[in-house]
Amino acid sequence: FTPVQIAPSILSADFANLGRDVERLAEAGAGFIHVDVMDGHFVPNLTMGVPVVKALKKVTRVPLDVHLMIDNPLEQLPWYLDAGADLLTVHAETLDGVQLKKAVAMIKDAGAKAGVSVKPKTPLGAAAPVLDMVDLVLVMSVEPGFSGQSYIEGSEEKVARVCAVARSIGASPLVEVDGGIGMKTASLVAAAGADVLVCGNAVCGADDPAQALQDVRAVAEQ
Ligand code: DX5
Ligand code: ZN
Repeated sequence: FTPVQIAPSILSADFANLGRDVERLAEAGAGFIHVDVMDGHFVPNLTMGVPVVKALKKVTRVPLDVHLMIDNPLEQLPWYLDAGADLLTVHAETLDGVQLKKAVAMIKDAGAKAGVSVKPKTPLGAAAPVLDMVDLVLVMSVEPGFSGQSYIEGSEEKVARVCAVARSIGASPLVEVDGGIGMKTASLVAAAGADVLVCGNAVCGADDPAQALQDVRAVAEQ
């Protein structure tokens, strides 16, 4: 049994008080700080980029889990490595197999952890070329783009499949789930084998984010 880690997504945080919020989440035991980078092309929303990663790096020791939802990760991922991303995740939909391997190698060569993500409708096979190389597989349980959406029912089956396929090839990446995770869904995905739960609205959108983080972790570990 490995304890479940909570990765609060700062997309739901108070941007005017980001440093303060991140400090509180760190004290509450956040496993990662999840940073959603969106380019307005790969997803229909534009969020934050390099300056925010740099600024966060200065205020916290919690590893920064940077989720790149951008069309051209090969061009831009070096910027995020320089800025201090500890874990950098690219989307399988944006790269072919050869490019995916290149992206993962670039991330690992820089000393960071590498992740690959699949959107809800993307078959797991899209991540297959790098499944034995990555440190983390990120299963989207909403269509990427916005916080506060409802969990797509059945996403836990994909989580279980990732775990099974990884095991079958002798790989043991962390499995992270992102989208609509909170008090009602945390135990479902944790039971399916998820190691890291991204929580936007349920934690950063709560009145007391630190308490909400602890509450979600508690239900996930039941
Ligand atoms: C969605 C982002 C998520 C989002 C999660 O595209 O990747 O990380 O912020 O927010 P909630 O937990 O509110 O669904
Ligand atoms: Zn995300």
